[in-house]
Amino acid sequence: MEQRILVVDDEQSMRDFLAIFLRKEGYQVHTAKDGLEALAVLDRADTDVVISDVRMSNLDGMKLLRETKRRQPDVEVIVMTAYSSTQDAILAMKDGAYDYVTKPFKLDEIKLTIDKALERRRMAKENVALKQQLKKHTRIKNIIGNAPPMREIFEMISKVADTKTTILVTGESGTGKELVASAIHYNSSRAEFPFVTINCGAIPSELMESELFGHIRGAFTGAVRDKDGLMSVASHGTLMLDEVSEMPPSLQVKLLRALQERRILPVGGTQEISVDTRVIAATNRDLAEEVRIGRFRQDLYYRLNVIHLRVPALRERREDIPLLVQHFVKRAAQDIGRPPMQVSEAALMILQQYDYPGNVRELSNIVERAVTLEITDQIRPSSLPPSLLEKVAGGGTSPTGPDGWVDFSRGIQLDALLEARERELLEKALGHAGGVKKQAARLLGISFRSLRYRLAKLGIEAGGEEEEDDEA
Ligand SMILES: Nc1ncnc2c1ncn2[C@@H]1O[C@H](COP(=O)(O)OP(=O)(O)OP(=O)(O)O)[C@@H](O)[C@H]1O
Ligand SMILES: [Mg+2]
Repeated sequence: MEQRILVVDDEQSMRDFLAIFLRKEGYQVHTAKDGLEALAVLDRADTDVVISDVRMSNLDGMKLLRETKRRQPDVEVIVMTAYSSTQDAILAMKDGAYDYVTKPFKLDEIKLTIDKALERRRMAKENVALKQQLKKHTRIKNIIGNAPPMREIFEMISKVADTKTTILVTGESGTGKELVASAIHYNSSRAEFPFVTINCGAIPSELMESELFGHIRGAFTGAVRDKDGLMSVASHGTLMLDEVSEMPPSLQVKLLRALQERRILPVGGTQEISVDTRVIAATNRDLAEEVRIGRFRQDLYYRLNVIHLRVPALRERREDIPLLVQHFVKRAAQDIGRPPMQVSEAALMILQQYDYPGNVRELSNIVERAVTLEITDQIRPSSLPPSLLEKVAGGGTSPTGPDGWVDFSRGIQLDALLEARERELLEKALGHAGGVKKQAARLLGISFRSLRYRLAKLGIEAGGEEEEDDEA
C-alpha cells in the first residue's frame, strides 16, 4: 500500500524539494504551508507520517504536533528543526514526536527516519489487528487458533462437552491434545469436579491397574492401606488417558469393562464400585494401525473412538502462527516481568516457514527463549535459534526478510534460492493466467518461448499445448 506523507513547511522551496524527492521514492505526498492548512489536510486525507517545520505562522509545528497527536494518535510526526535549536527538538519528542531532523539534512537521512516511523506505525496497526483477532477467536479459553481445522475443533468441543461419550483425541506430539481434553472438561457440567490425567506410557504396567482402579490394603506388597484409583478420584469429572496406545493388553480388557459397566474392581477387592467418570483418551499414534497389528484391542478402540478429534499439526495451520506467537510473547514477557515486545516482520516470516516437528510446544519454547535472550524490545531473526534459521534458509525458501536481513551465518545457496523463487513466480503467474501460457508469459514480462524453456527446465507441468506465435 502506498504510504502517505504530509510535508508542512512555510518555505515553498523546501516543500517542493521534499515533495519531489519523496514522490520519486514512491510515497504519496501532500503539502501544507502552515499548521492550520496541515490540520485541514489531515482531516480530509489519510496520512501516515507528518513531517513538519517548527517555526511557522498560523499554528506552529509544536502546536500542530500536539493537535495531530490529539486527533490521530497513531499518525507519526517528524519535526524539522533549524540548525541549533535542539531545544525545540527535545520539546517535540516529549510531546510525542517520533523523531527530529536538523536542517540542513541529507535526503537519505530523512528517508531513513520516515521509513522507521512508517515501520513503527505498521507494527502498531498490526498489533491492534492481532489483538482484535485474538479476542474474536479464543472462543475456547486458552486454545489459540483460527484456521478452519481449529474452528472445527472448537465447534466439536462445545458440541460434545456435555455428553457422556468417550472421546479420542489424536494428533502429533505438542499439538495441544491435553489442552483440548481439558477444554472439553471445563466446558462441561463436570467442570467443578476433577480433571485428572494419567500417562499410560509413563507408569510401569504392574502399577497401572492399581493407579486406575485403586487397591485394597494387602493386595500386594507395599499396599499398606486402601487406595482410590484415578477412575474414582475423577468420578463425576473427567479422566484423560494419555498415550492410551501404551496400555498393556490385560488392562485394556479391564478398561473396556469399566467403560461399559461404569463399575470398577479395585486390585485385591471383591466389591465393585460404581463410578461416573468421563474418559477422554489421547494418542499420537495411529490407533487403527495399532489395532491392525494386534497391539490394541479392536473392541476398546471402537469404544474409545465414539467421537474422534484430530488436532492438526502446526505446519497444517501456518496461518495461526502469528496469533500463537503474539500469545506466547505476551505470556513470556509477563512471566519474566518485562514490558511488551514486538516481533519484527522478518522474524515472523521465518517463524511461519519452519515446520515444527514439536508443534505448538516447540513454538512456545522458541518464543520463550527469544523473549528471555533478546535485549531490545523487538524479537528479530537473530533472537531465533540458529538451528531454526539454518533449517528455514536451507529449505529452499528465502533467507531474506523485508527489512533487508539476510542470514549468511552458514552461507546461502544462491542458485537454489533463485530457482525456488523462479518456480514460485512461474507457478503463480500460470495460476493467475488460468493456465494459459501466453498470458502467463505476458504477466511475467518474458517471451512465450522463454516461459516454455523455463517450465521445461524446472519440470513444471503446465496443462494443454498452445501454439507458439510470432511474439516468441
Ligand atoms: N492452540 C494452542 N494455543 C495455545 N497453546 C497451545 C495450543 N496448543 C498447544 N499449546 C501449548 O503447547 C504445549 C503442548 O500442548 P499439549 O501438552 O496439550 O500437547 P499434547 O498434544 O498433549 O502433546 P504430547 O503428545 O507431547 O503430550 C502446552 O504448553 C500448551 O499449552
Ligand atoms: Mg499430552
